[in-house]
Amino acid sequence: MEFNVRHEGLKKWVREAAEICKPAAIVWCDGSRAEYDRLMAEMVAGGMAVPLKKRPNSFLFRSDPSDVARVEDRTFISTTDPHEAGPTNNWMDPKELKTIMQDLYKGCMQGRSMYVIPFSMGPINSPIAKIGIQITDSPYVVCNMHIMTRVSRQVLDALGSDGEFIPCLHSVGAPLSPGQQDLKWPCAPIEQKFISHFPEDNLIWSYGSGYGGNALLGKKCLALRIASAMARREGWMAEHMLILRLTNPEGRQYHIAAAFPSACGKTNLAMLTPTIKGWKCETIGDDIAWMKINPDGKLHAINPEAGFFGVAPGTSYASNPMAMETLKENCIFTNCVQTDDGDIWWEGLDGDPPGHGIDWKGRDWTPASKETGAHANARFTAPARQCPVICADWEKPEGVAIDIFIFGGRRAGVVPLVNEAFDWDHGVFLGATASSETTAANIGDIGALRRDPFAMKPFCGYNMADYFRHWLDMGDKLGPQAPRIFYVNWFRKNTAGKFMWTGYGDNCRVLKWMCDRVDGKVGARKTPIGLLPQEKDLDLTNLQIAPENLRELLAVDLAAWRTEIQSLEEHFGQFKERLPERLARQLQELKGRLNR
Ligand code: GTP
Ligand code: SPV
Ligand code: MN
Repeated sequence: MEFNVRHEGLKKWVREAAEICKPAAIVWCDGSRAEYDRLMAEMVAGGMAVPLKKRPNSFLFRSDPSDVARVEDRTFISTTDPHEAGPTNNWMDPKELKTIMQDLYKGCMQGRSMYVIPFSMGPINSPIAKIGIQITDSPYVVCNMHIMTRVSRQVLDALGSDGEFIPCLHSVGAPLSPGQQDLKWPCAPIEQKFISHFPEDNLIWSYGSGYGGNALLGKKCLALRIASAMARREGWMAEHMLILRLTNPEGRQYHIAAAFPSACGKTNLAMLTPTIKGWKCETIGDDIAWMKINPDGKLHAINPEAGFFGVAPGTSYASNPMAMETLKENCIFTNCVQTDDGDIWWEGLDGDPPGHGIDWKGRDWTPASKETGAHANARFTAPARQCPVICADWEKPEGVAIDIFIFGGRRAGVVPLVNEAFDWDHGVFLGATASSETTAANIGDIGALRRDPFAMKPFCGYNMADYFRHWLDMGDKLGPQAPRIFYVNWFRKNTAGKFMWTGYGDNCRVLKWMCDRVDGKVGARKTPIGLLPQEKDLDLTNLQIAPENLRELLAVDLAAWRTEIQSLEEHFGQFKERLPERLARQLQELKGRLNR
């Protein structure tokens, strides 16, 4: 049903895609509950989706074992000049890449429906929002997009006859010949997977994967890679950041945006349940922030998404009760354990594991099984509005004014619990040199230490050195209104391999110190790497922690930091003359302070 599409450019693009991909039918999506129910019913009938008796309107999917996470090695930033993509991205020439992919797209939707999804990233009336149109042959993707973005006819109305949209073409890359039985999770082999971005024409082409950021193109592809390139051109910011509002006992509000790499604690921090009395946390977003300088001179942030695509393992009433409350109904679960009583389970959930279940590969599973029941990157897709602590202002079109930026990563050693930047340039240096051990959110090595600047290594749609420069420029524009910058590490381990910091709800103790720093209410000690709290500066009321752990978490091991210098120099060295001089100077100054 091609309802009243007035946009000739859109109709032409859809027609051309259909001519190449050869779908059996074209379905224009309206984002309605009826559409969701119909697609889910079809997927249940086909054996792709398992309805969950214990959770109303919720379904479990099991992906192909080869298609379980983002594929950074198969993700491309395709610009005419390779230097525009820079040393941290995979680059291919646009002509060459388009030729390869056009070949793959030929007939790729045979035997399947082609869905056209009009979606908005951000509230439709927000001056910061953008419109995308995703073409996909995956009904699983359509249902996820319903939750993660705003899909509706209103988007087409807002687009009018000549509005701007970001075309996102997606296929799972598994055509069906007549009579061929479909797979439960169709996808293409790894060497045929391409997650391609053409920032010069604001265009996304994805082929071969049905999972997460590879396939839900509004998220990483549009809202980070393409948006970051647009943001640099247009003078705003697209960041891999959660957004939260913290309110102190006196009722003063602070808005915090924090960038941690994938599977390093954004969803958990965004829904924090404070363990100190009188402090309140409300969620605005858990993964992405779009920020513009408002007429009031402050940096305002919106969450462009409408749902959470969160890491399931480790989520529990003990660690993240607000997430658990969000997951009670209307959710999609992928690669979790199916329990015999019609529910889902994953490692780290409260209570005892089920005696028996079906694992993410569809096999019988018991606690005695050698492999985990859920995949380490098993995920839930949940509507943000279901979160009990979603902020009343989370859809405010002009966003909220950010007071504090936090960067961080997962480091077993060296990096202390928290430190504050001396000033904006030093803060940008902390972001630019952020490091973390890799996680299951990408297919590849797990636990390997790498630099992940601003948690944007996999998501920056242009040369990372130019991105650093953009951060410096934004600071210059914001001047005294610029947010204060901090760096955290919740993941320090002792020699026995145990986390030294209690984390989760107790992270509010660190956030409280930051807020009090902003207000000039609390002290800090100057160290070569930044400003650190002394034990007396942190609110430790009722905190259960071994004194030696706390001491080590707040210590700066100068010898260990000196050993980081070489890796910092290599990291900056890859950007050659494109590295902003102001950051090179920051590194020299750090060296000077460490060797004094
Ligand atoms: P993406 O969705 O991939 O961007 O991840 P994310 O940054 O939102 O990470 P998330 O909050 O889902 O956390 C990932 C993992 O880190 C989960 O297994 C959490 O249990 C764990 N985690 C989160 N916060 C903490 C913390 O404060 N301490 C410890 N030890 N683990 C944490
Ligand atoms: C991440 O990897 O940072 C995610 C999950 O948020 S995905 O949408 O798959 O990219
Ligand atoms: Mn993420």
